[in-house]
Amino acid sequence: MRGTILHFLKDPGETPDPRAWEVFEDGVLAVDSDGKVAWAGRAERLPDRLREGARQEDHRGKLIVPGFVDTHVHASQVDIIASYGEQLLQWLEKYVFPAEAKFDDPAHARAVTGFFLDRLLAAGTTTASVFPTVHPVSVDAFFEQAAARRLRMLCGKVLMDRAPYAPAYLRDADVDQAERETRELIDRWHGKGRLGYSLTPRFAPTSTERLLTMVGNLHRERPDLWLQTHVAENREEVALVKKLFGGRSYVDVYRRYGLVTGKSLFAHGIHIDDTDRSQLAAAGSALAFCPTSNLFLGSGLFDLHAARAQRVHVGMGTDIGAGTSYSMLQTLNEAYKVTALRGRRLSAHRGFYLATLGGAQALDLDRVIGNFLPGKEADFTVLDWAATPELARRTEVARTFDERLFALMVLGGEQAVTATYVLGNRVHQRRS
Ligand code: GUN
Ligand code: ZN
Repeated sequence: MRGTILHFLKDPGETPDPRAWEVFEDGVLAVDSDGKVAWAGRAERLPDRLREGARQEDHRGKLIVPGFVDTHVHASQVDIIASYGEQLLQWLEKYVFPAEAKFDDPAHARAVTGFFLDRLLAAGTTTASVFPTVHPVSVDAFFEQAAARRLRMLCGKVLMDRAPYAPAYLRDADVDQAERETRELIDRWHGKGRLGYSLTPRFAPTSTERLLTMVGNLHRERPDLWLQTHVAENREEVALVKKLFGGRSYVDVYRRYGLVTGKSLFAHGIHIDDTDRSQLAAAGSALAFCPTSNLFLGSGLFDLHAARAQRVHVGMGTDIGAGTSYSMLQTLNEAYKVTALRGRRLSAHRGFYLATLGGAQALDLDRVIGNFLPGKEADFTVLDWAATPELARRTEVARTFDERLFALMVLGGEQAVTATYVLGNRVHQRRS
């Protein structure tokens, strides 16, 4: 693949540190026949052994970056994106739970999941940590179609058993059955190809103490599994968790059940304090920053600076369907505005880091994806500096690469994704 190549070796930080990335203006990304990165660098330095017999694709004038990592998204909420007028708890009741109930029908689950995965690829996203529904068939539908597309994906059956916050029509009948179903799905899918199983208790209010205890025990038994849930997204939710569980904080409730581990990913974490952050950091847990969702539901402003100061891993999430775009560029655009409202900044370099290597680190997948070091899986996306007239014009007058990259982050969106590749093969091509 020939084009301009950008990837990250570490977190550039807030300043940002130019040793954290490599840019090859006229670059080559060489991919092995098994879909792994063989080499990335300046075109003129491409080793001869990689030139011979190689099929070449020309993306000169475009930007090639590692596939985006969406660290928090709901495959089950495709049809309720842009639902009007509520904050979290009422929005769940009114829109989300009825939509998720339809996933007891395998044909519906398959149709929605196929659409969902195609939208991710069109947005340049090649890896995600995904919530399906409480129905085992929703997990099968997701993993079957992710496997067919050869994607590296995390997912697991949503666990929710507590009345009245989990409604009767969308509830695990009992914890033993929820555990049996979870174990069956783990056996069927975890470690199969590029798929990983993530224990997925929805959040504390929909969980009984028995359920959280089961999840904690299972994770202790199987530390190779991932774990995903939501934490401290909304003030009313935080007050409810305090009422139901007591404890010093919401994070502390999850700690009590052994859910705060190096494989844990917590969505949102807006209303937390530095004690929570240092506990998350000590455990090696990560937070998913979902700005379009946080703004849409009026949840609050994630504190990216505080997370960095306490050394908590952070990834970006679209959080469809509370989020309003599948595009990681659009998500970074909104993230910039959230940091601005907090009197801070998000540079384009740190933004692209968070959407690629940062996300991979948050999901503990950086050994296999996230940048173009040799041996990594070659998932990448090709971005167009001139995707729209306004971006083309802004790019043309930009004086530096940094300026162009920032314009792409803010104005890019899904239109900017020309093509998406998985294991070196093109799986999406923009029309026109
Ligand atoms: N908290 C518990 N469930 C959900 C969900 O589906 N979406 C969001 N944004 N927050 C949640
Ligand atoms: Zn969510």
